[in-house]
Amino acid sequence: MHTGTLRSLPDNPIQRLHIGRPANCATCPSEQRIAGPNCYYLPVHVHLQASRLTIRRFTAEDEDNLVSLNSDPEVMRYLTGGVPEPGRDQIRDEIIPFHLAFYEAHPGFGTWAADDIGTGSFLGWFHLRPRRSDGLPDLGYRLRRSAWGNGYATEGSRALIDKGFADHDIDRVVAETMTVNLASRRVMEKCGLRYVRTYFEDEQYAIEGAEQGHVEYQLTRADWEAAQQLTALA
Ligand SMILES: CC(C)(COP(=O)(O)OP(=O)(O)OC[C@H]1O[C@@H](n2cnc3c(N)ncnc32)[C@H](O)[C@@H]1OP(=O)(O)O)[C@@H](O)C(=O)NCCC(=O)NCCS
Repeated sequence: MHTGTLRSLPDNPIQRLHIGRPANCATCPSEQRIAGPNCYYLPVHVHLQASRLTIRRFTAEDEDNLVSLNSDPEVMRYLTGGVPEPGRDQIRDEIIPFHLAFYEAHPGFGTWAADDIGTGSFLGWFHLRPRRSDGLPDLGYRLRRSAWGNGYATEGSRALIDKGFADHDIDRVVAETMTVNLASRRVMEKCGLRYVRTYFEDEQYAIEGAEQGHVEYQLTRADWEAAQQLTALA
């Protein structure tokens, strides 16, 4: 595992993590030896660690990761119809600064990068943040295609939901996706969210299946607590 907690800050969630592909794991124990060309041994703020994922704050170093993620038309299929947006300039000048400011403005909420806990490689992102329309905590995710089908979205979402309910006085988590985005809906269901409604809105992009609208799901605190109790009894 390519992590090493800063010894001077034992209770601080800031850790040194390899961002990118570690060139040589032997560099991990040394906090003095920093960054070969493929090895960014940087202090980052870790929000949580699931069994296979590190979910951490974005840094300016994530520009290439986000550009690459948005460049895959399959990843963007139900978001922009495959158009690679936002592009590099907007990611660097607006998106990453927005995420960084959000962590400060809404402690415990935001959009976080997800890295493979073993290799340190960037897999995508998750968010749990107040929905624009009504402030309810909204779950979301976007992962590299190479990571799909391994349960990562479910694992990261469950961990964020658990931490969200545990740390905050919230009474529900909501999530939205296009009706035809079956993988995203399945992740919501596997995390215990239930279908609430279908709704329609003007689409900015031409997206296959847009005529079927969007779906909203939610998980109430009562349902989350009931599931926690069942898990504890099992
Ligand atoms: C949605 C997304 C995050 C899922 O990531 P993932 O790591 O593959 O998800 P998981 O492996 O945890 O679970 C996916 C589930 O959907 C199912 N699934 C995948 N494609 C499906 C499809 N076309 N129809 C029905 N079910 C599908 C999988 O079988 C799995 O369910 P199972 O465990 O019961 O077999 C990923 O596909 C993605 O990043 N898509 C592009 C971005 C996006 O659409 N984000 C959501 C926008 S709201």
